[in-house]
Amino acid sequence: MVIAIDGPAASGKGTLARRLAAYYGLPHLDTGLLYRAVGAIVLAQGRLQDEAAAVEAARTLDVAALDPDTLRTAELGEAASVVAARGGVRAALLDLQHRFAAQPGGAVLDGRDIGTVICPKAQAKLFVTATPEVRAERRHRELIGRGEDIAYAAVLADIRKRDERDSARAAAPLVQADDAVLLDTSALDIAQAFEAALAIVEARRRGS
Ligand code: DC
Repeated sequence: MVIAIDGPAASGKGTLARRLAAYYGLPHLDTGLLYRAVGAIVLAQGRLQDEAAAVEAARTLDVAALDPDTLRTAELGEAASVVAARGGVRAALLDLQHRFAAQPGGAVLDGRDIGTVICPKAQAKLFVTATPEVRAERRHRELIGRGEDIAYAAVLADIRKRDERDSARAAAPLVQADDAVLLDTSALDIAQAFEAALAIVEARRRGS
């Protein structure tokens, strides 16, 4: 079973993906980390806006060496959003994601284009969302908890900017797949959101 989970930044999709993967015993890929890693490489080279450098970084990415802790910063979220708008970068990361999704027992992938581009035939597709204010609150708490010194207003502005860039780009924009189920987590805590997500996946498994 392949479970595809998409949604905007800090919607809760990562947490839900991890929990669903643990529940079903499936491997999980947070595809945002791929774009963050590419962003980190070109940022370190001083070439964030250089498409060829970003494509090269994507092509030679060492997935085994990805460190989620160092990649989940606000700065790299922004850099990821910039390189993710490049069609060449997305193309260079396709194969790796397809191979991950094709593992024998299935897989859980989360990102922006899993249900639309990467795994259009996934058995279960969720589009997880929440208001920008709720997402900014969650992301702010997370970043502060990790020792980043950043104001709520800056996080909200960053979320709005990323929403706009991720949704407006020509290459695999953030859109809900026709057959994805919408899950708004604005008023839900993690346990409630997981129950709702599980109910959606189970309904799909039963073919309804
Ligand atoms: O989910 P995240 O915040 O780690 O993602 C970082 C950026 O990467 C996000 O702004 C858009 C991009 N991204 C994408 O374009 N496609 C994906 N499948 C995953 C992430």
